[in-house]
Amino acid sequence: MSALPRPWPASTPRPLVLLGTGAVGRALLARLQRGQQAGWPLRLHAVANTRQCWIARSGDGLAPAALPEAGPARPAEALLAGLRRAVVLDATASEDLAARHADWLARGFDVVSANKRGLGGPQARWDAIHAAQACSGARYGDAATVGAGLPVLRSLRALRAGGDRIHALAGVLSGSLAWLCEQHDGGVPFSQLLWQARAAGYAEPDPREDLSGADVRRKLLILARSAGWRLEPEAVRIAPLLPPALARLPLAEFARAANRLDRPWARRLARAQAQGGRLAYVARLDAQGARAALEILPAGDPLLAGAGTDNRVAIWADRYPRQPLRIHGPGAGAEVTAAAMLDEALALAGPRGWP
Ligand SMILES: NC(=O)c1ccc[n+]([C@@H]2O[C@H](COP(=O)([O-])OP(=O)(O)OC[C@H]3O[C@@H](n4cnc5c(N)ncnc54)[C@H](OP(=O)(O)O)[C@@H]3O)[C@@H](O)[C@H]2O)c1
Repeated sequence: MSALPRPWPASTPRPLVLLGTGAVGRALLARLQRGQQAGWPLRLHAVANTRQCWIARSGDGLAPAALPEAGPARPAEALLAGLRRAVVLDATASEDLAARHADWLARGFDVVSANKRGLGGPQARWDAIHAAQACSGARYGDAATVGAGLPVLRSLRALRAGGDRIHALAGVLSGSLAWLCEQHDGGVPFSQLLWQARAAGYAEPDPREDLSGADVRRKLLILARSAGWRLEPEAVRIAPLLPPALARLPLAEFARAANRLDRPWARRLARAQAQGGRLAYVARLDAQGARAALEILPAGDPLLAGAGTDNRVAIWADRYPRQPLRIHGPGAGAEVTAAAMLDEALALAGPRGWP
């Protein structure tokens, strides 16, 4: 483990290394470019995806309106070489990069992640990320991993810091599944809604990440661990929303076969309507363990509050034993996710208490 870094002069902008130029990475870049005049204590050093990278020229400031000419792809390690106290922004879904988070922290780099595979991977990875922070003093921004910046994880931390035990959690944690359940009223086949969600940027690049429950599993793991539970991914019981045969297909073939989802979804909808309820994919954590499944909720259930891609989380704790604390709001989308990441980068980079 590295030695404690020397204090960083507040006036010196911290170098940013942005990994990922997809929906979230592009939104983050645009926000940085808009903030050029705001005096933020940040300086974009490098931007990379799997195919190309851009290295800032000296004097470029926070983020140039036009990036310099792209060079060939370089691994994250090469981009970080020689940097001190950089802030690494992980806007990818890369397993390889998630496995590097603890090492970056141990070397004194702060990490801000939208990539759930860091904290939502094996328990040992969560432990390593926390041990590295304790050892090096570097910090980890996780707000974009659950609820796209809604104050969910920070509320859990505040409750626990105030002496509460977390008794249980329930949540609609997938904005894309929330949107699909809401929009699926029988008018448009489910498979068509799925591609609309993808085109709008609500669904993951491969929508089966949402339908398989894999994305909700990672979010529930992050919530559960933040609430004090220790558990491995296999301990989360997930009811997937697509048959194994479709899960195994290459993405292009899945796109052609996705209409096989329409009949089962029409049946689910009919069952919900017959009971006077609505469909929701609900994650739960309590004495019975961690699990997620499609449920029929009675109309008016707080887990159906709001609309669209909203996330909803209910937290029962010592001070909220019967009426849970409820957190509800826009919890998906590149813009809110990028904003949450940038908020954390600013909080990490500025003097304590910034902005
Ligand atoms: N979109 C949302 O609403 C949302 C909300 C909350 C959290 N998130 C999370 O945010 C992350 C990014 O989401 P997204 O929607 O922006 O995904 P995306 O559009 O698929 O973009 C992913 C980006 O990561 C890059 N990448 C993958 N591996 C890399 C590596 N090893 N080094 C550098 N770049 C790498 C890809 O490069 P190429 O372009 O070369 O393939 C691509 O630019 C995901 O973990 C997602 O779960 C997204």
